[in-house]
Amino acid sequence: MEVITVANNKGGVGKTMQCYQLVCHLAHQGNKVLVIDLDSQANLSSTLGVQIQRTLIPEWLIGDVPAEDVVVKAEGDAEFYDNITLVPSSRHLANLSKLLILSEGEIRRDAGRKERLLRLRLQEVAEDYDYVVIDTPPMLGDELIMALVASNRILIPTQAQDYSIDGLEELMDTFEIIKETENPGLDFSIIPSMVDTRRKIEQQRIVELSQSFNITPPIRNLVQMQESISMRKPVFMMGNSSRGKQDYDALWESLNL
Ligand SMILES: Nc1ncnc2c1ncn2[C@@H]1O[C@H](COP(=O)(O)OP(=O)(O)OP(=O)(O)O)[C@@H](O)[C@H]1O
Ligand SMILES: [Mg+2]
Repeated sequence: MEVITVANNKGGVGKTMQCYQLVCHLAHQGNKVLVIDLDSQANLSSTLGVQIQRTLIPEWLIGDVPAEDVVVKAEGDAEFYDNITLVPSSRHLANLSKLLILSEGEIRRDAGRKERLLRLRLQEVAEDYDYVVIDTPPMLGDELIMALVASNRILIPTQAQDYSIDGLEELMDTFEIIKETENPGLDFSIIPSMVDTRRKIEQQRIVELSQSFNITPPIRNLVQMQESISMRKPVFMMGNSSRGKQDYDALWESLNL
């Protein structure tokens, strides 16, 4: 089982988009995929056809509720959706940090430290899935730290703009700390996201980015990507001439996914 987290502490850079396209791609290839929505905005949950009143993620992490009671099947009108199981989110997840403080005693007994809770829970279901894909909120909080400790790799969608690139430093510092302490095997990939290829300045930023990091082929800013989300139809279903499909095909190939 491989665990992949999509993360960037900056908002609106295409994390949830990346997750949706990746989950559908992996499921379409025949993999059993577990999706964990760690964002209280619950955008990925609703794109996968699931809306719930109150998520049980805190109770599951703490060990009060088993995985069977937390997971649901994704809903969609294509066969590959059958391969997707979801741990859905809701607004209530915004209280996660407070709830974890209240359960400190249980956490110490169970996992030692709260950062390890998600890894522990995923070890319990490792036989059931080929991939786990985790969507995270736009902040460097407990959700993101737990996801990084539990993951094999982190995909970082990044817009080719100054503030986005500056914000990367903070995330990379966190990545280094987790790698040195809890998870030496953690890998990362930087994915230029929502790129407007007609803008010279963005092309220039991508060149700069590639001087500091190994970057993947870019995902362009395309209206059809928004349609993919609103119609709940992944880009691979949009035909070979679709530019979104071409971008994601190149991305998955570069990531060996
Ligand atoms: N390649 C793209 N081309 C055009 N629009 C895109 C693209 N990727 C994402 N979008 C749109 O941009 C908006 C933000 O994308 P998304 O929700 O995936 O970002 P996010 O990083 O998950 O945001 P948040 O930090 O709030 O969770 C959405 O409306 C989405 O449909
Ligand atoms: Mg999101």
